[in-house]
Amino acid sequence: MKILIATQKPFSAAAVHDIHELLEASGHEVELLEKYPGEAELCEAVKDAEALIIRSDKVTPAVLDAAKKLKIVVRAGAGFDNVDLAAATAHGVVVENTPGQNSNAVAELAIALMIFMARGQFDGKTGSELQGKKLGVQAYGNVGRLVGQKAKALGMDICALDPFLTDEQIIAGGATPVHSIEELYSQSNFLSIHIPALPSTIKSIGYDLITRMPTGGVLVNTARKEVIDEEGLMKALEERPDLRYVTDVMPDNYAELREKFGNRVFATPKKMGAQTAEANLNAGVAAGRQIIDFFATGSTKFQVNK
Ligand code: 3PG
Repeated sequence: MKILIATQKPFSAAAVHDIHELLEASGHEVELLEKYPGEAELCEAVKDAEALIIRSDKVTPAVLDAAKKLKIVVRAGAGFDNVDLAAATAHGVVVENTPGQNSNAVAELAIALMIFMARGQFDGKTGSELQGKKLGVQAYGNVGRLVGQKAKALGMDICALDPFLTDEQIIAGGATPVHSIEELYSQSNFLSIHIPALPSTIKSIGYDLITRMPTGGVLVNTARKEVIDEEGLMKALEERPDLRYVTDVMPDNYAELREKFGNRVFATPKKMGAQTAEANLNAGVAAGRQIIDFFATGSTKFQVNK
């Protein structure tokens, strides 16, 4: 089968090498499309591919229309909001993700961003410590749980909200369960967001929630920019000069936020939560294995458009 690896933000060379080796050893042919400008190039490259490996690359109806032979798309990563699932289903294309494979990298970055903000972006002035502070984790899945566990090792007190988990599961993951979003924001000196971008979560975090945070609160977003109501964030930062926002997913109004609030806001220049050698290798190789299994046995264990 012909497998296309299409990554605008490429995997490491070592990960690409291992994915190639793995797929070729199973008799597949691999083509690589990296740093491509946009949809047109992907449409051209995917024409005769039977499988597609992507990261945050957008799989639109036009891409699926062009991909006449496509059977499976594997998003090497967790979030699959970049794939038009309805269109994929209509085209009979299986969509999978590789849950958990890049979680540690994202969790480490969330901790790093918290320290970076607590220490005033290393500006030389007196900062603060994480130890003894309360961390609220919004969604205690693969990434959230790792953030909670690492933060606990730093002496933080962890509380978490996750409607898909029982209290026992949250406690087993090292956190105290809370039962409402308002309660979570009201308690948390640091609040780390780990929810996906869905119609129900888009713009769900805004003025009302952010202003519930205690004095000096730091909101940390390594999830998706879409879950933030950017106008609400702006208003909250205007009214509460003690609040700060740090993110790995740059807001659309970042220039304005920086101009108004300076170092109280920080966004990484490019989403880099999953940009580690280990995460590239884990997620990329997992994607390759899932494709091999799909063609060899029909396995759709990680399908997200069932
Ligand atoms: C994910 O959903 O897995 C992360 O956001 C990482 O995305 P990336 O592969 O585009 O860095």
